[in-house]
Amino acid sequence: MTRRAVITGWGRCVPPVALTNADLERLCDTSDEWIVARTGISERRISHVEGTDLAELAARRALACAGLGAADLDLILVATCTPELLCPSVAAMVQHRLGAVNAAAFDLNAACSGFVYATANVTGMVQSGFVERVLVIGVEKLHVAMDYRDRSTCILFGDGAGAVVYEATDSGAGVLSVDLGADGSKGGTMVLQAMGTRGDPYGGRTPEETRLHFEGQAVFKIAVQGIAGSATRALERAGLGADDVDIVIPHQANGRIIESAARRLGVDSERVFVNIGQLGNTAAASIPMAISDAVDSGRVNPDDVVVLTAFGGGVTWGSIVMQWGDRTEPVGTHEGELPPTDATVFDLLESNLDFYAPLHADEPPAT
Ligand code: UT7
Repeated sequence: MTRRAVITGWGRCVPPVALTNADLERLCDTSDEWIVARTGISERRISHVEGTDLAELAARRALACAGLGAADLDLILVATCTPELLCPSVAAMVQHRLGAVNAAAFDLNAACSGFVYATANVTGMVQSGFVERVLVIGVEKLHVAMDYRDRSTCILFGDGAGAVVYEATDSGAGVLSVDLGADGSKGGTMVLQAMGTRGDPYGGRTPEETRLHFEGQAVFKIAVQGIAGSATRALERAGLGADDVDIVIPHQANGRIIESAARRLGVDSERVFVNIGQLGNTAAASIPMAISDAVDSGRVNPDDVVVLTAFGGGVTWGSIVMQWGDRTEPVGTHEGELPPTDATVFDLLESNLDFYAPLHADEPPAT
């Protein structure tokens, strides 16, 4: 039997403070109606703690779900494009907090495709026999890069974390095939500059350098084609077709992108999991959070053929075809919560709004 990586634990951490479409109507010239119709998003989350805190809690929940202790892990792999620090990595900080003393740890950045890229890495490491049990986390604190007076971008993105445990198995279940790709020539369509060394690294960042540069329409087109093509290739590699798919769990980029890509792929909407409405686009965190939601809401059954597919900055894309294992119930639960907060969403965004204000000095004040 082929040795494969199968998901045995899942968990997520959704920060408690929501930024609703009505809140956004107070910050820029937009409407709930426009946002819902064009994106499917009603609210997104603004984290009052660091992304590492979100990652840690999602990780604890996934470990409890798998019935494993931290010392059982061989590797912690974190997908993120908004790490709390570049060094030490988020993975290393989580390793320390969990007490995962036997685990190696590193971060990976493939933007919104990060979780799929991480799963591809884990698949190779499990199949080679290098690791047995791996924690993969997707986490983002994207609101830092949002200019909430720029309606073309700020409506989309939110904060959050999701985690899964992969274990080696020879049961026949697990990751069946992988497709990964990138086209760096289109990288200018989504740029997050402030985390890099470009520009004056000593002068402090300007608002223009810090906010996400995002060409929504161009990205939309590349995303629909990229997701459908990649998922089709991954299915072909697994020797499967669209009719064999029980559920597609896509990166939650935009409800319309998901619909169009599913149509191209030949999968009807009942077999596509969408939870973007309450969470927005959380980049590398969106697929592991969606896996958690899909399993907990009974949308995944034992032995199901599950397709994960994503598209993101770089540009990058990737798809995974897996057969779910024999368990969709958690072995255990972790009861911990994030520290509580009394802050309103406008309290949490105060320094953000001040920082980006100079970019809008000539505009009439928001209502
Ligand atoms: O996760 C990584 C990948 N990310 C994505 O895949 C996101 C890809 N892109 C998108 O989701 C969409 O392109 C957006 C949601 C960003 C924009 O939707 P769209 O349907 O492409 O709108 P558009 O840019 O074509 O704009 C249509 C109109 C424009 O007005 P005019 O020129 O027709 O008068 C925009 O100015 O809508 C206007 N508009 C808005 N109106 C109200 C743009 N943003 C807004 C807004 N509220 N927030």
